[in-house]
Amino acid sequence: TGNREKFRPTYHFSPLYGWMNDPNGMVYKDGEYHLFYQYNPYGSKWGNMNWGHAISKDLINWEHRPVAITPDALGTIFSGSAVVDHHNTAGFGAGAIVAIYTQNSDRQVQSIAYSTDNGRTFTKYENNPVLVSEARDFRDPKVFWYEGTQRWIMVLAVGQEMQIFSSPDLKDWTFESSFGEGYGAHGNVWECPDLFELPVEGTGEKKWVLLCSLGDGPFGDSATQYFVGSFDGKKFICDNQPNVTKWMDWGKDHYATVTWSDAPDNRRIAIAWMSNWQYANDVPTSQYRSPNSVPRDLSLFAVGDGIYLQSAPSPELLKLRDISKKRSFRVNGTRTVKELVPGNEGAYEIELAIRNQHADVIGFRLYNDKGEEVDMQYDMKEKKFSMDRRKSGDVGFNENFPMLTWTAIEDGKEELKLRLYVDKSSVEAFGDGGRFAMTNQVFPSEPYNHIDFYSKGGAYKVDSFVTYKLKK
Ligand code: FRU
Repeated sequence: TGNREKFRPTYHFSPLYGWMNDPNGMVYKDGEYHLFYQYNPYGSKWGNMNWGHAISKDLINWEHRPVAITPDALGTIFSGSAVVDHHNTAGFGAGAIVAIYTQNSDRQVQSIAYSTDNGRTFTKYENNPVLVSEARDFRDPKVFWYEGTQRWIMVLAVGQEMQIFSSPDLKDWTFESSFGEGYGAHGNVWECPDLFELPVEGTGEKKWVLLCSLGDGPFGDSATQYFVGSFDGKKFICDNQPNVTKWMDWGKDHYATVTWSDAPDNRRIAIAWMSNWQYANDVPTSQYRSPNSVPRDLSLFAVGDGIYLQSAPSPELLKLRDISKKRSFRVNGTRTVKELVPGNEGAYEIELAIRNQHADVIGFRLYNDKGEEVDMQYDMKEKKFSMDRRKSGDVGFNENFPMLTWTAIEDGKEELKLRLYVDKSSVEAFGDGGRFAMTNQVFPSEPYNHIDFYSKGGAYKVDSFVTYKLKK
């Protein structure tokens, strides 16, 4: 351990050893959150895909479990989902957890496996595969129960579209419709779908959200786009204009985002793989590669005539808050705060509420004694929030890593609110309760322990600057 482990996150999930990509098969049952994931147990680069497994009661503390599903003659185990079969539609037993996943060989097919011991062991269905096609890219099944038709629905990524299938028993699947042509971003194949219904805050209305990951994001390669619309058990209809692209997160390291099945209290909890295919195999860790994002609770909000997805840090994260300190001050020029948290080990949260006076730029720069920094700015003229990791530490392992990411911000807010989740090798920013999110990896040689607030063109007031040491 020691130096080799210095980038391992404190409160983000990462595999003990080996390679991880997409979160898979997330399902909640009997007080336990199951997280499966694309896993190479034999090395810390992509290959030999298995489903790794971990269990948590609180989305923060994870118990590492043995590999859940291993390759066989039909291929390695690619991404997919899991459901609880409450009505025993498949005949594996009422309450069985059924995993639905892609098997990859010279073709891609869908298979199922079931567990009657709350995910501790899985048995593969003897008549796999359950769905085949001529299509080359035919993968990442997301399955859920649709009350209206009393059918299971599968959304599958097929080339550059999503296909919808239905089934009474998780075994026989019927094609219903496809979605995607002409809609959203199309610079690469579509991957890792999810489809779910959410209330639109403050309206009494409900909408369906379709998630779609693809290697054509706003800052290069991996990113998750989404579509808002309606679904009747057969067909997804998008409300957006076809040329509108909506991104879930405006950083470079937020991919393959999918949500938990059967989460309690009608929650819709998402988690993403916190890396990017451009450099995931090169990041400077050795025992393991790539963690997940923090869990996020999703909701919908309306602005103008658009409906957007809000990703707020899940409330479980509040339990991490340890020592805190609150300050307020006015910034006109530069204001330095040293020693962000006592005994800083690189895991902390910053909560900010800022009121602009006449500043054009509201900036704050996290840095360490090595001069490594992450520079964030609200550009009040351009109406943008940005995060610059070009000098964040080790950035030289891949030319696509050094980068400034940015997003538009809403106009006319009295107070700018921001929460920053900093861990040993990441910074996740949540603006306005998650109305925008930005997730970026960083590899500093030591924790950023200071912050400089700076202003340009006028002053601003930091109504509240709270730092929390985070501890499991
Ligand atoms: C997305 C993805 C999926 C596939 C898996 C393979 O990151 O390419 O489409 O199932 O990774 O590991």
